[in-house]
Amino acid sequence: MKQMVHDKFINLLGKSSCPTEACLAVLEGEYTTSQMKEAVSSIGRKRDANNIPILLKYAKHFNPEVSMQAIRGLLVFKTDNRVSEFLTSLVEHPNEMIRDIIHKETRGPSNQENRDHSTCPEFLKNTLVQGDTLHILDYVPKDSIHLTFTSPPYYNAREYSTYSSYSEYLDLLEATFKKLIHVTKEGRFFVLSTSPVIIPRAGRKYSSRRYPVPFDIHARLMEIGWEFIDDIVWVKPEKSAKNRISNFNTHRKPLTYKPNSCTEYLMVYRKKSHNLLDWNLKQYNEEITAQSLVDDSFSRSNVWQIAPRSSKVHSAVFPIELCRQVIKLYSFKNDLVFDPFAGSGTLAVAAIELDRHYFMTEKCEQYVDAISERLSSNSLFPKSLRRYNTNEFKQKISVNGISNNDGAS
Ligand SMILES: C[S@@+](CC[C@H](N)C(=O)[O-])C[C@H]1O[C@@H](n2cnc3c(N)ncnc32)[C@H](O)[C@@H]1O
Repeated sequence: MKQMVHDKFINLLGKSSCPTEACLAVLEGEYTTSQMKEAVSSIGRKRDANNIPILLKYAKHFNPEVSMQAIRGLLVFKTDNRVSEFLTSLVEHPNEMIRDIIHKETRGPSNQENRDHSTCPEFLKNTLVQGDTLHILDYVPKDSIHLTFTSPPYYNAREYSTYSSYSEYLDLLEATFKKLIHVTKEGRFFVLSTSPVIIPRAGRKYSSRRYPVPFDIHARLMEIGWEFIDDIVWVKPEKSAKNRISNFNTHRKPLTYKPNSCTEYLMVYRKKSHNLLDWNLKQYNEEITAQSLVDDSFSRSNVWQIAPRSSKVHSAVFPIELCRQVIKLYSFKNDLVFDPFAGSGTLAVAAIELDRHYFMTEKCEQYVDAISERLSSNSLFPKSLRRYNTNEFKQKISVNGISNNDGAS
């Protein structure tokens, strides 16, 4: 039975002036989550040690919204033995947000303040390495990259890559993106462009197969420690999509509907950090911040309408506008932006335009030649490209006396 609490007390919920009895009546009655949360908040705001038992009780509430509020109230008393013992016991709490609060509150002082977040190793700037990204990443110093934007191979749907199975393909991407966490700076972003791919049928007796790459890789990225931030849908004009609908369009039989697919997902992840984004913003001086402010061209929604681009050199290139948007929204001027599957090097072109440095890796020599040609033939690009193969890059690292465990210089 709901205990009736006078309206005037309901209006005081969330404030320290709400009487404890009224708060308890809300908590013990069948009130809404937000009212219960506000009731615990009122008790916490009183900062009265006599209320510790109440806060301890509601910190164990099954509803995490209520328990998190009680935990916040308890943090004021974290030197009290009962409280510190209880908070320590929450390190393995099943709720991820509660675990985050406890990790943040119990970890030692951060050493991040001493790192120069806005710089990157000089020898990575405007560098293109030919080879397998998975190996090259072993020679990239820890905490070097400000932003990664990439579109990985489309499983076996394009001529430039072949994998013996879908699980081998996912394993390789997972291994690469795990190493990427290591070389990414504290709290910085990784934007991954993928879409489901279709592999044609082996013969009339068989069906084609559609692989849900974004969804499968997303699960693995979460597992290895990237924090999911946003999903952006890149919409291309329908006429640019492969025609899959004509059969259905003719006979209209249910179950056979195959829409023309004209979207890709830009999944936005952040390297996990106990620091809020505010910390990242504070690492840049006023001048760089002012020069990095985003102009009016950004999309207000997560649906980005951008026409695709075709190229004689490569069968799956980014439109430069897509790269521009991602770079402007997720990096500062002079940052180092990375494409681990560089293809035709579009990200580098946008990076130069926007006064960022680029770092790229690409397996195929033919594409690396094309990137070199693209970047060095254009006088608009004064920043000269440094091109290495994996061995030369490895030597470069030893000459610079840098190891993969080092921080950015
Ligand atoms: C989808 S394309 C990227 C196209 C690029 N976004 C552009 O704008 O041109 C993927 C690229 O990854 C390269 N690639 C595939 N496996 C690789 C690996 N293990 N290491 C480095 N590059 C690889 C392929 O050669 C291909 O050029």
